[in-house]
Amino acid sequence: MNASGRKRLNQTPEWTALGEHRERLGRTTLRELFAADPDRGEEYTLRVGDLRIDYSKQLVTAETLTLLRELALATDVAGLRDAMFRGEKINTTEDRAVLHTALRAPRGAVIETDGENVVPGVHAVLDRMAVFSEKVRSGEWTGHTGKRIRNIVNIGIGGSDLGPAMAYEALRAHTARDLTFRFVSNVDGADLHEAVRDLDPAETLFIVASKTFTTIETITNATSARDWLLAGLNAGQDAVARHFVALSTNAGKVEDFGIDTANMFEFWDWVGGRYSYDSAIGLSLMIAIGPERFREMLDGFHLVDEHFRTAPAEANAPLLLGLLGVWYGAFFDAQSHAVLPYSHYLSKFTAYLQQLDMESNGKSVDREGNPVDWQTGPVVWGTPGTNGQHAYYQLIHQGTKVIPADFIGFARPAGDLPPALLAQHDLLMANFFAQTQALAFGKTPEEVRAEGVPEELVAHKTFRGNHPTTTVLADELTPSVLGQLIALYEHKVFVQGAIWNIDSFDQWGVELGKVLAKKIEPVLTGAAGTEGLDSSTASLVAAYRTLRGR
Ligand code: F6P
Repeated sequence: MNASGRKRLNQTPEWTALGEHRERLGRTTLRELFAADPDRGEEYTLRVGDLRIDYSKQLVTAETLTLLRELALATDVAGLRDAMFRGEKINTTEDRAVLHTALRAPRGAVIETDGENVVPGVHAVLDRMAVFSEKVRSGEWTGHTGKRIRNIVNIGIGGSDLGPAMAYEALRAHTARDLTFRFVSNVDGADLHEAVRDLDPAETLFIVASKTFTTIETITNATSARDWLLAGLNAGQDAVARHFVALSTNAGKVEDFGIDTANMFEFWDWVGGRYSYDSAIGLSLMIAIGPERFREMLDGFHLVDEHFRTAPAEANAPLLLGLLGVWYGAFFDAQSHAVLPYSHYLSKFTAYLQQLDMESNGKSVDREGNPVDWQTGPVVWGTPGTNGQHAYYQLIHQGTKVIPADFIGFARPAGDLPPALLAQHDLLMANFFAQTQALAFGKTPEEVRAEGVPEELVAHKTFRGNHPTTTVLADELTPSVLGQLIALYEHKVFVQGAIWNIDSFDQWGVELGKVLAKKIEPVLTGAAGTEGLDSSTASLVAAYRTLRGR
């Protein structure tokens, strides 16, 4: 029992029941489950907005799903969900509300935190972003020399980079092709150098995106970008106003940096960094796709928010996906989860989900600070198909690990592919469907032998199958569909955090490295000595100094 009176997760009867059920399920195969129920494909499919979510190739029966839903009930997932939507401070370690859902609430909605309706503020910022975006898109916003802006460079890291960068790639077919977009995040100077080396400073707008405006990588890159701009324009500080805007919650720090707060688009501390690209942090995206499409994307998010908030447990997609993850982590010892989009435009999707999921649920103490003795968030990984098929799918098919995977694909390619390339889409999607089929049903030794394979190769050519996958199929990757997908994963992560009883909205685990880097930097430059460092770090740092001639 916890201090809050909540039973520890693995001491609940629902957890025990799931463990016993897992034993009974034993080595039941997907072949058997499909043979027993010819309609399984249709029955184990949910439809949410434009998403068709087929979970029939999951290692679950109707009983598994019932038991998982009972676990969700026992851990009061719905109670925490409602508290989140109501604006309660469910991020307890930071004493903050968690209201990214307010970022996509319709204009007339009322969502209060600390006694204030936050929705009018959200729309006021969206409106300002729209005006600014249109000015840049139309060429009305000019740089210091009067030239129109043609290049937009977003400088940010983590949630202030991954979201806009991912969404820009995802919606590239919908972007203004006469503008160039670059995303700079790494404090490695090569990132900024490569981003600006072929740009004309007179035509370049920097968007400095940082919730706190104190993140060392972002402030360092922004300072270097300002130096590059002023040197390139041969201008003074007054040139900054036409070439720098800020996206932040911290007006004071924005001003300290030298950006006029008239050129700042604000958001709020109840928006977590990894939940922020539908806030002002999405300004670069809005410039790229235009305000109208940005709003379509927000509507897509909102559609899934409403689904999550209101759909019954049996039909609630984020709940289901969250429960499946809990099932494999706890009862199959799955350590990772692959997300495999069959769309080149989703090349950054999994990297984005890594922060969303791993920064949210990579925790090992519960809400009360007690160590958990159950698995929490998985390692999330993956790249777009079909590339992975020629790299690491071997391990998924025939390795020793349980790797649940999500396959995401589209009936039609986005945008305006020329007819010759359009024809490739069926090949892409044939692979998409074939892989989940192969993973689920494999190939038995008998089937291999029947092909005349010599006995010594039979084991090598056998596929044991039974690898669980979810297939998400949509018509086309539109702004709305992207919003639906992201909200689906946001709420899936939420469900898992609620069940594991962890705070999914803090990120204390990133702090120690930051503090140590601050201490080590002066040692590298020679401003401080190596005393006090452990022997490994001291000798590495000494070697670095020697190599740098210091
Ligand atoms: O260090 C982790 C983190 O705080 C992330 O949670 C966040 O998305 C990122 O850094 C960037 O933070 P900021 O937007 O404040 O620069």
